[in-house]
Amino acid sequence: MNRPSDGELVAAARAARERAYAPYSGFRVGAALRTDQGEVVAGANVENASYGLAICAERAAVAAAVALGHRRFEAIAVAGPGPDPVTPCGACRQVLREFPRGVDLEVLCAGEAGERLLATTLGALLPDSFGPDSLQPPPADAPGHPPGVPRTPPGS
Ligand code: THU
Repeated sequence: MNRPSDGELVAAARAARERAYAPYSGFRVGAALRTDQGEVVAGANVENASYGLAICAERAAVAAAVALGHRRFEAIAVAGPGPDPVTPCGACRQVLREFPRGVDLEVLCAGEAGERLLATTLGALLPDSFGPDSLQPPPADAPGHPPGVPRTPPGS
């Protein structure tokens, strides 16, 4: 498979914007993850009449990718409305932090059209972050932990 370029990843995020369900904010966001195998998995924001239940495009993309069996992501593109690059919210930064690339994930932030792009990393967006490696292993006799089940999230 040809590895999609950063420009193609941004195009995929912009295409996903069109499928956003954002009747309350009108703020349509698309996101596209590129896996380390070069697959692209997109997501869009999904809002709700109970406003606080909105799902951001980035987390929708992560959920879709994981459901398809992907956990190793090398880049994510995010595209919002207007000319200015849209950056992931704090919650999405933390969700992206979970996966093996961690703070080295490339984050490409774009607007709805044009060349303006903020190319950064998750580490720059979420310094001194808490992640899977921050957890102390629980004691061997911790209650409720079934024997034989790994205590740390699988790295891949
Ligand atoms: N939103 C995203 O999908 N991603 C972001 O990075 C910022 C915000 C969504 C959530 C909500 O549906 C709308 O944009 C307005 O906040």
